[in-house]
Amino acid sequence: MKRISIAIDGPAAAGKSTIAKLVAKNLNYTYIDTGAMYRCVAFYAIKKKVNFEDEEGISKLLKEIDIQMLPDGTIHLNQEDVTSFIRENEVSMGASVVSKYQSVRDFLVAKQRQMAQGGGVILDGRDIGTVVLKDAELKIYQIASIECRAMRRHKENIERGIVSDLEAIKEEIAMRDEQDMNRQISPLKKADDAVEIDTSDMTLDQVVARVMNLVSQRV
Ligand code: DC
Repeated sequence: MKRISIAIDGPAAAGKSTIAKLVAKNLNYTYIDTGAMYRCVAFYAIKKKVNFEDEEGISKLLKEIDIQMLPDGTIHLNQEDVTSFIRENEVSMGASVVSKYQSVRDFLVAKQRQMAQGGGVILDGRDIGTVVLKDAELKIYQIASIECRAMRRHKENIERGIVSDLEAIKEEIAMRDEQDMNRQISPLKKADDAVEIDTSDMTLDQVVARVMNLVSQRV
């Protein structure tokens, strides 16, 4: 069977990575979490005490950054396992800020395209269908209401034993969406040829089944 490229874009906390991982497993495809790469840049900036708003300072850091995404799903930054650290709130907000810089996008998009070469891949992010893989055979634009996204994130936090404030989560998500949709370079938007899936009232299984159905139409 033909091994295609799948792009999943959408706003923050829309469940893109959960769906992408499950679909990748079903198809035996490689899953590439592009948001984790922007998070690595933000994490490294914190480590090096460079302000997120300092474009020149952030750009200079790029040549020191080596990101490895291992088959077991862990993310390594300069040989250090940063998988859990990059999920922290400060890093989420920082990733949204540093992702507006051309130098950061050029650096990471080149890496993403290289990793996606040959097909059999599923990438999730904000600009996969519009920029990174413009020729992807399947493009999904995954959305859900802000209430629903915040509630899911809140539940996840509680299950993980993390202190969680629903209103704060809602604010953080709204702020990131606003930044990600309104930046000048590669803003988040639905590609003309993307299929929109609103997951607000869907179960995980239903979303996966819908995506698998779309895949089967294209392979
Ligand atoms: O998908 P995520 O929440 O882990 O992404 C973190 C931030 O990185 C997001 O707020 C915007 C940025 N990002 C981006 O600009 N382009 C991508 N392809 C993926 C993420």
